[in-house]
Amino acid sequence: MSKVLFLKANNRSIEQSVTVKMYDAFVNAYRASHPDDQITELNLFDANLPYYDEQMMTGLYKLANGYEATADEQRLADLANTYLDQFLGADKVVIAFPLWNFTIPAQLLTYFFYLNQAGKTFKYTEQGPVGLVGDKKVALLQARGGVYSVAPMDGLEMSLNYVKNTLGFWGIQNPEVVVIEGHNQFPDRSQSIISEGLAEVTALANRF
Ligand SMILES: Cc1cc2nc3c(=O)[nH]c(=O)nc-3n(C[C@H](O)[C@H](O)[C@H](O)COP(=O)(O)O)c2cc1C
Repeated sequence: MSKVLFLKANNRSIEQSVTVKMYDAFVNAYRASHPDDQITELNLFDANLPYYDEQMMTGLYKLANGYEATADEQRLADLANTYLDQFLGADKVVIAFPLWNFTIPAQLLTYFFYLNQAGKTFKYTEQGPVGLVGDKKVALLQARGGVYSVAPMDGLEMSLNYVKNTLGFWGIQNPEVVVIEGHNQFPDRSQSIISEGLAEVTALANRF
């Protein structure tokens, strides 16, 4: 029995959003093929995710170093650590997120800021930073309307690259990845691009 955390970084409807289609396809196939696993779904757009700020960062610093925090610092640090502990406690994590304006939605960025904690997801050593959560299995599901896998747009891709770099910093080097791209750029092929991508998502869910 594995503990699996599903993160959804999009609150558009399934009719509007390709990311949400990917998310639903994965969750449904995974539930059917792994009936004994313990699944938690977290929609980051419904979650309480205040911007990472001075009070939260000071609270986290004080808790980690044994100083007394103010009530607000403690509350914000506890909130960030609740998400961190949920992530650390999962054997597998699946993240579905769109490319919006070349990057990730702000809710996912905020979530990653909470998790980016020295001593928890990475540590500093004399040889440089070392990831601490490399044993976690991760799947990334991304949709992007244009084509960013090749030049000239590849240099503008700060969504999947950002997520992969952040996970790599935490020691998660080879996440499974399914990308659906180009369905807006090529409207005549849109349906087949999406349906082929969703078949890949289902196959990944079954073997993940
Ligand atoms: C707010 C917003 C910003 C977007 N920015 C881009 C973009 O910079 N480049 C691009 O190719 N497509 C862009 N798109 C299209 C999405 O990449 C496309 O809809 C894809 O399916 C992922 O988003 P979705 O799951 O919300 O549909 C954008 C869509 C939205 C709603």
